[in-house]
Amino acid sequence: MKIAIIGVGNMGGAVCEGLFNKGMNATYQITVSDKSVEKLEQLKCQYPTLEITTDNRQAAADAGMVIVAVKPWLVKPVVEELQMNENQIYVSIAAGVDFAQLESYTGLKAQPMYRVIPNTAISDQQSMTLICKCHTTAEQDALINELFGCMGRILFIPESKMAAGTAISSCGIAYALKYIQASIQAGIELGLTAKESRDLTVQTLIGATTLLNAHGEHPCVEIEKVCTPGGITIKGINSLEHDGFTSAVIKAMKASM
Ligand SMILES: NC(=O)c1ccc[n+]([C@@H]2O[C@H](COP(=O)([O-])OP(=O)(O)OC[C@H]3O[C@@H](n4cnc5c(N)ncnc54)[C@H](OP(=O)(O)O)[C@@H]3O)[C@@H](O)[C@H]2O)c1
Repeated sequence: MKIAIIGVGNMGGAVCEGLFNKGMNATYQITVSDKSVEKLEQLKCQYPTLEITTDNRQAAADAGMVIVAVKPWLVKPVVEELQMNENQIYVSIAAGVDFAQLESYTGLKAQPMYRVIPNTAISDQQSMTLICKCHTTAEQDALINELFGCMGRILFIPESKMAAGTAISSCGIAYALKYIQASIQAGIELGLTAKESRDLTVQTLIGATTLLNAHGEHPCVEIEKVCTPGGITIKGINSLEHDGFTSAVIKAMKASM
């Protein structure tokens, strides 16, 4: 099967890299199309068997799957230009563009479609990718699972939960990085070098997520283990609460909806 990726910026480029890095090019013929010849040639240099073109319609013409990864406001003109048919699987990587809109752009009533929302860690195959589906078969679901499952974790959710999921995992990666940035700044004020503070912070976050993944507990269980009565950690935890940390995170997630 031929897979066409339209738009190889952050997301489309990362998907292309992920597919090659995981050896999917042995099974699938991968073609990418973009306005930017420079981006296309850069990818071609990295992956010589990749087919590149600036002609979106030509890229999609005989593809079994068409992945559209352009900015949300460009989805309509790009999809209208592609003139897909109902035998092609359409994968949309565009935040906030729903199936009803996509269907009105394609003019097709029964095309198998997926909305896929990765986060930027897809570039290193550590994405949390949300997927919702419409008019798809179990076989097509298995295919999308294979392709995106090799680039991190995936979760199939109903379209009604897509905006909430996007706030938590796609926008959420920026909030997690913001915590890391704050911790690094604190470490420097406390006398660590920037590198020491960064290394300590990053490994601490890896430790925290590893604990949660390994034991499946709620974070409060792990927090309690660190909080000796009258000790220094509970003082810091309570200071975070007094300054509205939990409320600030919840408000940020809700603002991203
Ligand atoms: N970034 C994220 O964290 C994230 C997460 C989840 C989902 N998304 C979604 O992913 C989509 C792509 O975002 P992105 O960050 O990857 O954007 P991006 O870096 O701007 O990539 C889009 C690419 O499409 C190219 N392009 C523009 N018009 C085109 C056309 N008519 N035909 C073919 N290619 C065209 C752009 O070229 P030029 O640069 O020359 O215009 C660019 O290379 C968005 O819809 C976004 O909602 C992004």
